[in-house]
Amino acid sequence: MTISMQDLVLNWSVSHLVACVAGVIVIRVLFRKYATAIRDVPGPFWASFSSLWRVYRTCKGHIENDILDLHRRHEGFFVRIADNEVSVSHPDAVKQLLHTNLEKGTFYSIFSLPDYRYVNQMSELDPTRHIHKKRSLAAGFSITNIAKAEPYIDNVLSLLRTRFDELCKSGAPVEFQNWFSYYAFDVLGEVTFSKSFGFVESGSDIRNAIANTGALVYYIALMGNYIWFHNLTLGNPLFSWLGLQPNSHIFDTCLIAVDDRKNNPKVRHDMMQRWLDTRAAYPNRLSERDVFAAAVANIGAGAETVSTAAQTVLYNLLRNPHLLKRARQEIDEAQSRGELSSLIQYNEASQLPFLQACLKEAYRTHPGVAYNLPRISPKGGITIAGRYFPAGVILSVNPWVIHRNAEIFGADAETYNPDRWLREDTKTMDAYLIHWGAGYNSCPGRNLAQFELLKVLATVLRDYEVELLESHKDWEYKTRFLAVPYGWPCRIRRRQTKTA
Ligand code: HEM
Repeated sequence: MTISMQDLVLNWSVSHLVACVAGVIVIRVLFRKYATAIRDVPGPFWASFSSLWRVYRTCKGHIENDILDLHRRHEGFFVRIADNEVSVSHPDAVKQLLHTNLEKGTFYSIFSLPDYRYVNQMSELDPTRHIHKKRSLAAGFSITNIAKAEPYIDNVLSLLRTRFDELCKSGAPVEFQNWFSYYAFDVLGEVTFSKSFGFVESGSDIRNAIANTGALVYYIALMGNYIWFHNLTLGNPLFSWLGLQPNSHIFDTCLIAVDDRKNNPKVRHDMMQRWLDTRAAYPNRLSERDVFAAAVANIGAGAETVSTAAQTVLYNLLRNPHLLKRARQEIDEAQSRGELSSLIQYNEASQLPFLQACLKEAYRTHPGVAYNLPRISPKGGITIAGRYFPAGVILSVNPWVIHRNAEIFGADAETYNPDRWLREDTKTMDAYLIHWGAGYNSCPGRNLAQFELLKVLATVLRDYEVELLESHKDWEYKTRFLAVPYGWPCRIRRRQTKTA
């Protein structure tokens, strides 16, 4: 067999090309690993030069525990979780990183839905622009505005009770992960667009919106690490025009809701209207696209988080019968004093301190957002717990990690114990409870979340006996930015109460 000159040249060039590419990769890896001020920060090998560790652990599903373990294993406040990112577990990080107006990490750009032109509060990285946008939208989220929507939230709650009554009769298993999501989505529809989406009514995941949101959150958690690639591909306006994105269902759901709203004669002074009013009075502050982007952000952010909190309370009460008994007793006593309406009102549920403590403890032990919240070290750098980080380093805080700090929350920080919130002085714990985030980027939907959660939890606990069908087995969840539980089917029976 003879080898031609041409083959020899081809083989030589291919092997040189491979060697060149390998050389560039090695240099780049070494450069990222060592030519940085965070080279001495401990952490997994793959994280020292890439985002691969985070991507892999996100796929495995428990990155919140992985990061907690890393902090414990390295016995330090700082762990390198990507080539340019350090996770900080020192309590001072809450004040210095979240409560200070630092620019957010590029990860957040992934929240521009459906493409990079639609920058909402969540995806706006610049603190000044973010704060302006947030102020312009604040009226819609105010508790006064939410309270005005209570009769319509009650309609959703009443329908939910009808569905639960049907499930009591049929004896079919109840998947609370679905029902709490349906409730939260429909409440968002009522409050934002004056119209429920109809999830509770149909008892199903209409157009697979909830399943698709799960897929979208997974995509967000992974591709947030590669924003440049996302912007070239699925975050590109061309793809949104072609309707090829994983997030197009949220966009479409919102488009339909906005269109319906225009033709709805019963439209109220809802959240959307409050934003349109602000736009009419100050057209420079909010563009039409801003209003639409805010509505999309609501749908993306305000349902599965609420479902997670409701599930966490109920599941933990079922797992701790002595706590369930106390929660019931508080509600039943209020009921027998005539303090609760058939559909429990927010101001009535707010008079149930043990229930409130159960909810707060759910926020602490299982925060809906269990991912690191990244901020960028400012010009001139920043010193946290005696360690200096130069400008440009990404420093991030994970609510899951902070909430398990035994020095703040006590030696039983790992345990679900609502009583910790009934002690005389909870000021320190309150300061480090960051399930809403903190500072300029904190959750604007918290009033609505607290409002709808207390109502639905008090109503379910008063009106139904709930039993875990697979009590030998724990619930499951996978942390993909959100940590939404699933897999704890129940059976329910109607309880006999005076007004119910
Ligand atoms: C228990 C329920 C909820 C939890 C635990 C929760 C938690 C959070 C967290 C941790 C953030 C991000 C903070 C950060 O990145 O630094 C956030 C942002 C946001 N949430 Fe919520 N949320 C909840 C319910 C809601 C609801 C009901 C709505 C809508 C009405 C909503 C709308 C938003 C929006 C629009 C943002 C982006 C805010 C910004 O960047 O300025 N959330 N939420």
